[in-house]
Amino acid sequence: MPEKKTILITGATGYVGRRLCQRLLEQGSYNLKLLVRNRHKVQAAVADKVEIIEGSTFDKAALREAAAGADAAFYLIHSMGARENFRDLDRESADNFRNSCIAEGVRRIIYLGGLGVKKSASTHLLSRIETGEILAHEPDSIEVTWLRAGAIIGSGSASFEIIRNLSQKLPVMITPKWVRTKTEPIGIDDVLSYLEEAIEVEQKQPVLLVDIGAGKLSFQEMMVQAAEEMGLKRYLVPVPVLSPRLSSYWLILFTPLPYSLVEALVAGLKSETVVQNDNAARYFPGIRPVSFREAVRQANAELQNNQVISRWCDSSGDSACDIKDFNDPAGAVLRDVRIVAYEHGESRQEVFQAACELGGPRGWSRYNLLWRIRGWIDKLFGGYGLNRGRRLHRELRLGDALDFWKVADIKEGKRLLLLAQMRLPGRAWLEFDCQPDQLVQTAHFIPRGLLGRFYWYSVVPLHHLVFKDLAKTVVSESKKLRRR
Ligand SMILES: NC(=O)c1ccc[n+]([C@@H]2O[C@H](COP(=O)([O-])OP(=O)(O)OC[C@H]3O[C@@H](n4cnc5c(N)ncnc54)[C@H](OP(=O)(O)O)[C@@H]3O)[C@@H](O)[C@H]2O)c1
Repeated sequence: MPEKKTILITGATGYVGRRLCQRLLEQGSYNLKLLVRNRHKVQAAVADKVEIIEGSTFDKAALREAAAGADAAFYLIHSMGARENFRDLDRESADNFRNSCIAEGVRRIIYLGGLGVKKSASTHLLSRIETGEILAHEPDSIEVTWLRAGAIIGSGSASFEIIRNLSQKLPVMITPKWVRTKTEPIGIDDVLSYLEEAIEVEQKQPVLLVDIGAGKLSFQEMMVQAAEEMGLKRYLVPVPVLSPRLSSYWLILFTPLPYSLVEALVAGLKSETVVQNDNAARYFPGIRPVSFREAVRQANAELQNNQVISRWCDSSGDSACDIKDFNDPAGAVLRDVRIVAYEHGESRQEVFQAACELGGPRGWSRYNLLWRIRGWIDKLFGGYGLNRGRRLHRELRLGDALDFWKVADIKEGKRLLLLAQMRLPGRAWLEFDCQPDQLVQTAHFIPRGLLGRFYWYSVVPLHHLVFKDLAKTVVSESKKLRRR
């Protein structure tokens, strides 16, 4: 039997990368190496079957180690999380990656970028194009397969979440101009098929540009079709002017996405982003992308069957738990501690499981309305609010978004640490320490200046109600788990 090829995947904790990793593992033909910023974000089931190298694309030694022995290397990374200098970071990251792959004799880089042409591209799309150009800058030394996709439709993808939320929540939708711009959506499973086949595709030239899509559609057409798929009748009211900025504010009210992502998406639709070449059909004749409607059906089915593998908010961007010190609330100066003893035979594991099932559609406690009001306030200040919900009903993994929290540490049966991603004048965590005979629930806070302290003390009465009730709820809910 021929020896298995080794494949490097970067971005393996992101939306596309997680799914690609799973696809290639199921396929079984390759040894996988993953370059990740935080090894704990890789699920245990995957971590056992791959080689993990911890580091970022700005760490050249880690990059060389990751690229060593790889036949092909996936580049599924962007720096959009860094708000200001993302274009510079993207350039440096791509440059480091290409150089390391060349130095280690990697045969091919496979990059997934965005559709769009340079002269009319938004800043974010421009950065995606520049990334491809940098990766493809030394065609004599390394092959590059550069796939370009528009809106990716799949459970948990950013575009699908926008379309799904708007279609579900708004019986009457206002439709500004950008909503009528043509783009070319594609289902996530088809994207994965192209990525997988790109490992072996025989390309005639060292750099192969492959635009992928499932037919031209505007966001307006997508919203109408998605609503029909959900059995909903929606009315559209065209508006002549609604600036991209106002549109973005409008979108964040009704969708879970933050302003930065929504703004990038709206800016990307100021001009058409459609397929520019027929290389998909020429080089990948076996792949027939499913229609937008079919992709919506598949995404809805995954949501209903609780099978969401990855979400748009899986990546840490620049603000979450990939920085290890960030996981540690030890430096907190203000704390709210609640201790509830297990008086009715609850087990530590049950209490831990009950803590893991908080949030999303189940809510947080008896004072759910107060939590919801906090979520609305967060939205008003440009945060996530409670709209992100949760990926699966019962399971959590490190890096999962959970309403306005992010899972920063999880120790099975013992500890769940949530990092606050709501707008706050400071840094905050919520910790569930499930001890053998009691639950110790602690809200930790590191205030930013006087405002931070003022905030903390002004919400003390609310914390008293909410946190006291939360700890009790977790312990009492744990009893119900036994009956399941
Ligand atoms: N999702 C879409 O709708 C879509 C559409 C068209 C094209 N694309 C393209 O597909 C690619 C992947 O996108 P995605 O949506 O999967 O992204 P994503 O969910 O935001 O994930 C980004 C991934 O990159 C990792 N990462 C970021 N900076 C890194 C660095 N410097 N070093 C190492 N890892 C780093 C993140 O790690 P952490 O977990 O540590 O943050 C995360 O795993 C991108 O090139 C994007 O342009 C995506």
